[in-house]
Amino acid sequence: MTTAAVFNPFVPSYRKNPYLQLGRLREADPVHFSAALQAWILTRYEDCLAVMRDHATFSSDAHNARGQLAEALQQQRRESPVGDVATVLGVDPPRHTEMRAIVNRAFTPRRVQALRPRIEEIARELLATAPVTGDFELMTGLAQPLPVIVIAELLGVPAADRGRFKHWSNAIAATTNLLQTEEMQATTRQAVQEVVDYLGAFIRDRQREPREDLISVLVAADEGGRRLSPEEILAFAILLLVAGNETTTNLIGNGMAALLEHPEALARLREEPDLLPVAVEELLRYDSPVQGLARFTTQAVEMHGRTIAQGDVVLCMIGSANHDPAAFVDPDALVLDRDPNRHLSFGQGIHFCLGAPLARLEADIAFRALLDRWRSLSLAEGGLERGGTLLLRGPERLLLRAS
Ligand code: HEM
Repeated sequence: MTTAAVFNPFVPSYRKNPYLQLGRLREADPVHFSAALQAWILTRYEDCLAVMRDHATFSSDAHNARGQLAEALQQQRRESPVGDVATVLGVDPPRHTEMRAIVNRAFTPRRVQALRPRIEEIARELLATAPVTGDFELMTGLAQPLPVIVIAELLGVPAADRGRFKHWSNAIAATTNLLQTEEMQATTRQAVQEVVDYLGAFIRDRQREPREDLISVLVAADEGGRRLSPEEILAFAILLLVAGNETTTNLIGNGMAALLEHPEALARLREEPDLLPVAVEELLRYDSPVQGLARFTTQAVEMHGRTIAQGDVVLCMIGSANHDPAAFVDPDALVLDRDPNRHLSFGQGIHFCLGAPLARLEADIAFRALLDRWRSLSLAEGGLERGGTLLLRGPERLLLRAS
């Protein structure tokens, strides 16, 4: 074992391309302890998969964590206006099994597929004002508004409140940045307070008068006598904003950036649009919107000769796992029809992404809409600015040259 590999995600080059550093770590130090993050960084596919599948040892509940990062996470939860309320994402079985069964009802494949015509309409509307030829900023023009409008409509939020929704979801998504400044934390707290007030009133309204929307489904859902409390519904609705918006935005952004860097792939997709569903899987693998997820050990565990103590934080670096040559042939190549393609971009095991069918549908519709709208698409000079955080990756700005 060597500890020669360094991991420094704070340098600008990491934001531009994290895969170089992650690749070195995967080779030389696959179970790396980052003193700066106070966390173990796992970079191999098999290790990440094993961790995600072993929820008994690798808990999703931050209450099981110790140390600096864990304290910060726990404090964040205590101070949240939602209170220390559990969501599916942050609990283990048996609680997880129960909660997941309830929220699964709201996200049935049928319910998601039924959204197709409406999502197509939203995408068309968003692109209607785009120039026929010239520059189009993909992130603000399509990738950001599309998922927010879809979630807002799913929840049943009126169109007039969409703008506020986007602001809230951006601020709340920033909580995934483990390196927030005081000022960022204050903005987040304020946004969470606003969304809590708004959705709290909304849930009370649906309790009195149920409608067709998802909140009404959740209010009524009963699983073996167990229901979600209004606080749990509220926390879940906020989770959807966090988990569903920026991730899907980044899938559209990263995916388009990858296609623009590979014009031959873009041309192929134009020729063979039926390839889109498999191509979306490859775009998810190639540049994953979620780059890592956290677990907390419930007991000491040995991995590759390192001892991870009980209560330690483990970060499974999905982006790195997806580029592991032990799991993928020619992992750094974009192969639109890659088969098999067992990427970890939606996680794995009991916490596998609840919104995966919706995210896939939205991406399919977005790419189709872009290809239909313009005959030719390329990247404007200097048109790609990378954004994101350690755990979420996506463009800040992506300027398309369209004709
Ligand atoms: C490209 C888009 C998306 C990506 C890459 C993504 C990725 C992920 C990942 C990696 C997890 C596992 C987290 C863990 O194991 O700790 C997850 C869970 C989850 N995702 Fe997504 N997600 C996306 C879109 C969505 C959407 C659109 C929604 C809902 C509208 C959503 C809702 C959720 C929820 C509720 C969970 C928690 C499930 C559980 O803990 O049982 N996601 N997602």
